[in-house]
Amino acid sequence: MGSFAGAFAASHGPLLVREWESVPAEQKQRLTRAFQELGKRVSAARADVLVAVSPDHWANFSLDNYPAVCIGVGETNEGPPEPWMKGYPHRQIPAHPGLAFHLLNQSLGEGFEPSMSHRLKLDHGTCIPLWRMELPKMPAIVPMLVNSIEPPMPSLARCLEWGKLLRKAIESFPGSLRVGILATGGLSHSIGEKTMGAIHEDFDRETIRLFGSSEQDLIRYLGRELPSRGNGSEEVRNWLVAHGAAGGRGFELVDYLPVPAVIVGCGFASWR
Ligand SMILES: [Fe+2]
Repeated sequence: MGSFAGAFAASHGPLLVREWESVPAEQKQRLTRAFQELGKRVSAARADVLVAVSPDHWANFSLDNYPAVCIGVGETNEGPPEPWMKGYPHRQIPAHPGLAFHLLNQSLGEGFEPSMSHRLKLDHGTCIPLWRMELPKMPAIVPMLVNSIEPPMPSLARCLEWGKLLRKAIESFPGSLRVGILATGGLSHSIGEKTMGAIHEDFDRETIRLFGSSEQDLIRYLGRELPSRGNGSEEVRNWLVAHGAAGGRGFELVDYLPVPAVIVGCGFASWR
């Protein structure tokens, strides 16, 4: 049967690539170390597959049709389409349609109704963490795109439920397979709105603290605070999916630092 290899989370943001040179040296060093440490933990988990939980930043979807959740079932994944991601070394990223279809079937059987795609591009949301973690071997990636950028979005409680479903699907997979989860996005940031550039360190630190508390406290806090903490903060939904999959236990913080040069409160964590 399949087994759960662990859950991991990292922030992403275009400026981590585009404005990397303007990040102060000390913060550059911390960010580099945090990504590398997360990469070490992912490698130590020996996952054959990572379910990558991220929003789609308009690489695949548009306002014509933006699914709440989409699972990538293709034979392969395409690399990031953003021109400024051209340095990313993989144009094709291995996939795992067997696990993806199993997850899709399990979802539909349990009253969850995701969209599916045989052809997905993995944008910077997934590829910046994959790149910066410097994994010696790229695991297969099953994309799970969760709308965490364009309202209305899946509820916070539903994201936790998605995580629990994901865990069940992993453990009921009929075959020997180690599966980890890589959640990306958050913590606080604001893109293309009046507060663009704002980082809410108090929100980020309280969110991190509450991941070690009860699901109810965490969801209550996020539900109250997210509307005023920058639109990018909504991506913490992906962390909730990982949290649900990991059994709601607290995570171990690898590092957190607000980085004004990239306008993101950058958090890195792995679940115990
Ligand atoms: Fe994002």
